[in-house]
Amino acid sequence: MNRMLRVAVLVSGRGSNLAALIAARRDGTLPIDIVLVASDKPEAPALRYAEGAGIATLALDPRSYPDRAGFDNDFLARVDAYSPDLLVLAGFMRILDPAALASWIGRAINIHPSLLPKHRGLRTHERALAAGDARHGASVHFVTTELDGGPVIAQTEIPVIADDTAAMLAARLLPREHRLLVACVGLFADRRVALDGALVRVDERALTAPLRLDTDGGSARLV
Ligand code: GRF
Repeated sequence: MNRMLRVAVLVSGRGSNLAALIAARRDGTLPIDIVLVASDKPEAPALRYAEGAGIATLALDPRSYPDRAGFDNDFLARVDAYSPDLLVLAGFMRILDPAALASWIGRAINIHPSLLPKHRGLRTHERALAAGDARHGASVHFVTTELDGGPVIAQTEIPVIADDTAAMLAARLLPREHRLLVACVGLFADRRVALDGALVRVDERALTAPLRLDTDGGSARLV
């Protein structure tokens, strides 16, 4: 039996994905140890949520560092001190320096609110609407030095409905994002997923397409 996966969650804002991970850990569906919640925004509500849940927090302000790489190196070194097996970027809005990130590749994932490779970067819901997309969604991918460009592990999709606004689309997607992230972290907890060059391997087999979140019948599983 493997020891429990040690997870550090990186956040910059609200923290609803963090809350979903904490809830799943509490109800026993996600066997992980959340060893740290770390942020580049000392005022992030997600940090307060973590404190309330009794989880160690780390908040560093980039403005107190002379340059970007200096912050990123110190931030990740302090995260590393908690010996996480996996970094989960959940609403972490900072682009990390490639050299600082190098040793984490394969051990860091991000949740992004679009069907990658569509709509990397910000304002994804607005952009999906502007592009006339019939379907929208969220992706969990390995973090690489390319912004929102790492190999995708799994996605969840929703239809775009006539008269949708960006806010409506975001609100409809968010509960799906939460289930997607919990399911993907579950793959790591069970040691079922790995990055192999540009490939994602699940149960040793290379994916030819991202896994999909199947929410039929109330349960959420990756297929
Ligand atoms: C989510 O939409 C996530 O996909 C994106 O940032 C948002 C974070 O929300 N990367 P929250 O802080 O987890 O509530």
